[in-house]
Amino acid sequence: MDEWKNIIIQDDCLRAIREDLGDLRGRIRTIYIDPPFFSGTDYTLKRLQGGSEAAAPDLHESETYSDKWEGGFEEYLEFLRTRVELMRELLTEDGSLWLHLDTRASHYAKVMMDDIFGRENFVNEIVWKRTNSPKAQSMGFGTQHDIILLYAKDSSKFQTKPVYREHDEKSMKPYRYHDDRGQFRLIEIEAHGIQRTTSRKQFEWRGRTAPYLYKKETLDRWWEEGLIYTSRNGRYSKKQYLHDTKGILVSDLWLDIPPLQGGSVEFTGFLTQKPLTLLLRIIECSSEPGDIVADFFAGSGTTAIAAERLGRRWIVCDKSLVAIETLMKRLKSESMDETIPVSIKRPPIREKS
Ligand SMILES: C[S@@+](CC[C@H](N)C(=O)[O-])C[C@H]1O[C@@H](n2cnc3c(N)ncnc32)[C@H](O)[C@@H]1O
Repeated sequence: MDEWKNIIIQDDCLRAIREDLGDLRGRIRTIYIDPPFFSGTDYTLKRLQGGSEAAAPDLHESETYSDKWEGGFEEYLEFLRTRVELMRELLTEDGSLWLHLDTRASHYAKVMMDDIFGRENFVNEIVWKRTNSPKAQSMGFGTQHDIILLYAKDSSKFQTKPVYREHDEKSMKPYRYHDDRGQFRLIEIEAHGIQRTTSRKQFEWRGRTAPYLYKKETLDRWWEEGLIYTSRNGRYSKKQYLHDTKGILVSDLWLDIPPLQGGSVEFTGFLTQKPLTLLLRIIECSSEPGDIVADFFAGSGTTAIAAERLGRRWIVCDKSLVAIETLMKRLKSESMDETIPVSIKRPPIREKS
């Protein structure tokens, strides 16, 4: 693996996987794909060019890809199916595929993915809040989220590392106690409500008889460690110090990854570009440094940049020349172009992208 080169391919990923990547079968740990969504739109890349003190810059627009389907939804689903089937073959036994869509196709894709991977290998439907300002609708409600379907090659071998997000104002509220060790919140150690069944034994501990949730030895250990808080009326609770928590455990609702703003330094002008923080999270929790990560609908190259930052090897493919050029520029602006070995496979451009 010493001579490993990251790979950039400009081609239809169907052909690229069949013809260029056969020897990577069973070797890719994480595949993230963000294919066309069946939106019925032609997409472009918008860039400001020129401009001076006297004149505003021109807005330059280049076509990137079309998400219009003459054969309708059936053709679209078949397009996805043939490609995802090949991608599955590339995954390691503990690998995973993350399919990013929105509600125009996600439910049909779920059924398709169950068929390709097996229902038992479905892991999550992640809801990513992709905008803070949904468009007003004359009918129904404005859409604020995308869907990411997560499938394991073999769910008995796949694991994700726990992901934590920073505390926010709401989650910080219970941490209103202080002592010389720091800020803490109180955790109940006595049973309440439905936990308080007749089978739960009460016992006396340090002068208070209660239906404790923990064994006496555990309570003694916490007492020794200074982790028991005694209230004015003699009730005990456990202290949880803020500095001992890693943050809030992230669920399948991803509300904390902000959308890409047009003015952000990260934004390349590629209209369907996804935020780097989204890809950092996906890659970090599903792979290890040195693993191979791939994206076969790479667009502006977000996956390559995130994988490189996390020390993963990467393969990206896109059929649009404008996308590949955007990605190359991005690598250059991150000073990644000279230091990272990359093999660029660019066959003759056969169709307008
Ligand atoms: C939604 S964009 C991906 C955006 C990307 N995630 C980013 O952060 O910039 C979808 C990409 O799929 C590419 N694409 C469409 N059909 C393709 C195909 N058959 N093979 C490879 N790429 C394709 C398009 O050119 C487009 O760049």
